[in-house]
Amino acid sequence: MTDIRELLLSRIRDVADYPEPGVMFKDITPLLADPAAFTALTDALAGIAERTGATKVVGLEARGFILAAPVAVRAGLGFIPVRKAGKLPGATLSQAYDLEYGSAEIEVHAEDLRGEDRVLVVDDVLATGGTAEASLQLIRRAGAEVAGLAVLMELGFLGGRARLEPALTGAPLEAL
Ligand code: PRP
Repeated sequence: MTDIRELLLSRIRDVADYPEPGVMFKDITPLLADPAAFTALTDALAGIAERTGATKVVGLEARGFILAAPVAVRAGLGFIPVRKAGKLPGATLSQAYDLEYGSAEIEVHAEDLRGEDRVLVVDDVLATGGTAEASLQLIRRAGAEVAGLAVLMELGFLGGRARLEPALTGAPLEAL
């Protein structure tokens, strides 16, 4: 695992003061542009899907889509998009959550998740955990089970892992 960690870290670019002063943005585009790194990441995430017994893979808009879709294909599972509010055409379940300033809302097609599903949520970054927490709430409200949460990066100093503990109810949180 050490080798893949180094490979992935070496392909993440720190961009200072983006999108606003004082923020160090973690840019994953160099990783996506490197087929060896993107393949290694996809394989590692697909391995988590298999180990957790997931039956579906949820990706969180927008960067989560880029990572989750190839994981679903690699693992032979369906891909379900969780989108920002107002983007899905069918009947949706919505979940609001607080941001530092204001609030946001994410949605999933209600018909995409069922009681028998075990869902792995995939995203690029776990920061405060607000987005991931709302996605886990959506999955439970749909009647499905949470198989786990897998992210490329965890910004540990923001405390997302502790925040997510109740919503995970024992399901694993894996950060590569
Ligand atoms: C980023 C990131 C995660 C989320 C993490 O997405 O991709 O989804 O924020 O933050 P949190 O743990 O504090 O909720 P963003 O909303 O910026 O969307 P994007 O992927 O469309 O850029």
